[in-house]
Amino acid sequence: MQVLKDRILTEGVVKGGNVLKVDSFLNHQMDITLFDAMGEELKRRFKDEKITKILTIEASGIGIACIVARHFGVPVVFAKKSESKNLDGDLYTSPVYSFTHQKEYMIRVSKKFITEEDRVLVIDDFLANGKALIGLFDILGQSGATVVGAGIAIEKGFQGGGDALREQGLRIESLAIVEEMGEGFIKFRD
Ligand code: G4P
Ligand code: NA
Ligand code: NA
Repeated sequence: MQVLKDRILTEGVVKGGNVLKVDSFLNHQMDITLFDAMGEELKRRFKDEKITKILTIEASGIGIACIVARHFGVPVVFAKKSESKNLDGDLYTSPVYSFTHQKEYMIRVSKKFITEEDRVLVIDDFLANGKALIGLFDILGQSGATVVGAGIAIEKGFQGGGDALREQGLRIESLAIVEEMGEGFIKFRD
């Protein structure tokens, strides 16, 4: 998606440790006009799919998921990373290992909000190693819901998480795929 790639090129900063900083429009300040265009594009790509729910993970997936959901007219459920007094009843849980933080955490979704009748699109801001996405797909597997696929804003293709999931037959649509990056340069796939 060209407008997103242009923003990454003009405002993205490549940090050490393979991190792309995009906090002026995605991860801290959020450009809602851009999010809305991303929602329109994802709706176009998934137009033939019946989708009943969007699933994301806190924190930075939530903003995008909410704007994308307006285009599908469905609710958003976000997986929680911490135990919460507001989380009661039966939960689906899955362990996720974060390379960035070098630790494992649990993600949790109340069984009330995802059922086997649902057809779910997963939305997230970043896809790197894919561990967060695998955890969300695991939860969907437990629920018996149908996994339609995932819509991602920025995939770091060189970290391999997206291609590994595609090889398993999952539909992963990323709006910008960074193939290579370094100090002062960012190169996209295709
Ligand atoms: P993985 O899911 O692909 O395996 O990656 P990892 O666990 O290492 O990602 C940890 C966090 O860092 C995630 O957010 C992820 O969205 C984010 N992330 C990964 N690579 C980049 C990057 O290059 N740039 C930016 N800006 N973020 C990246 P999180 O820590 O779970 O938290 P939150 O920010 O959603 O609250
Ligand atoms: Na993040
Ligand atoms: Na995220």
